[in-house]
Amino acid sequence: MPRERATVFVSGTLPGDGVALLRKRHVVVQDDDGVRSAAFAACRADVEAIVALLTDRIDAAFLEGTPRLRVVANVAVGVDNVDLEACRARGVVVTNTPDVLTEATADLAFGLLLAAARRIAEGDRLVRAGGFGGWTPTFMLGTRVHGSTLGIVGMGRIGQAMARRARGFGMHVLYTQSAPLPAEAKADAVASDTGATYVGALDELVAASDFVSIHCPLTPATRHLFDADRLARMKPGSILINTARGPIVDEAALARALEGGPLAAAGLDVFEDEPRVHPALLERPNVVLAPHIGSADRPTREAMAGKAIANVLEVLAGRPPLTPVARA
Ligand code: DGY
Repeated sequence: MPRERATVFVSGTLPGDGVALLRKRHVVVQDDDGVRSAAFAACRADVEAIVALLTDRIDAAFLEGTPRLRVVANVAVGVDNVDLEACRARGVVVTNTPDVLTEATADLAFGLLLAAARRIAEGDRLVRAGGFGGWTPTFMLGTRVHGSTLGIVGMGRIGQAMARRARGFGMHVLYTQSAPLPAEAKADAVASDTGATYVGALDELVAASDFVSIHCPLTPATRHLFDADRLARMKPGSILINTARGPIVDEAALARALEGGPLAAAGLDVFEDEPRVHPALLERPNVVLAPHIGSADRPTREAMAGKAIANVLEVLAGRPPLTPVARA
């Protein structure tokens, strides 16, 4: 039987009016330091719902101290910060925020692709430093985008949105994941919406692509999916984009591949040990670095917060969550 007013912990400051709505129905404790805060420690025995950020680690040990917890609503589509199996074992529902961030994240991924290919960030630094001596035919030559081949790793919602953008730029799109999209399950078929062609093996995709963009979740199987060996198999002069999760790429190996080849450049929005960035990457001029802002346009972040809070309200009212994460 749901209690009238539950204790809800909200991690961080969220945009939009969702928290105000939550306060009308429940007791809200909020702290920018998330589940590491003293405020959380003081209420954790009573907490029935947590609106969590991707910087909050929710694992079996954490759950030991939250006996009343019923729902973890992650303000993110990725849930690698949550031990799904431990939550399942304790009957804790986990939700995420799919759909609302798809287009914003693909916008940023494509922005990084353009910036890395056409050396936009590098050019900006050069102009500010007074290094622009005037137009010459050989100055700051970059990589051609239109007509080139983009390989997408993980053709979920964001991968498909990236493919649509690439199509608008006249690129050929390949993708890989465990199986083709249902619409193109037949061999060699091309999905009409994305114009993308399924390539079974990742090594085949990286060898054939001028750009590779990562859109798969972080799992034990995808950790360091791009290690030194895989990076060495990439096409000479190609460009790697990562807006998914940092640990999918071995940053030390990436820095070496950017210095000695085969990569011409990279665009990264995520890092292995955020907010730290590998020092060797900071030294490379041919990597564009963004501070994990893939979903950071205002309407998107408001929608993400709203969706997380709506999930909490549903579960606390004894109804099914709107966007549950498939159980491990
Ligand atoms: C996510 O949703 O997983 C992003 O990394 C944050 O928008």
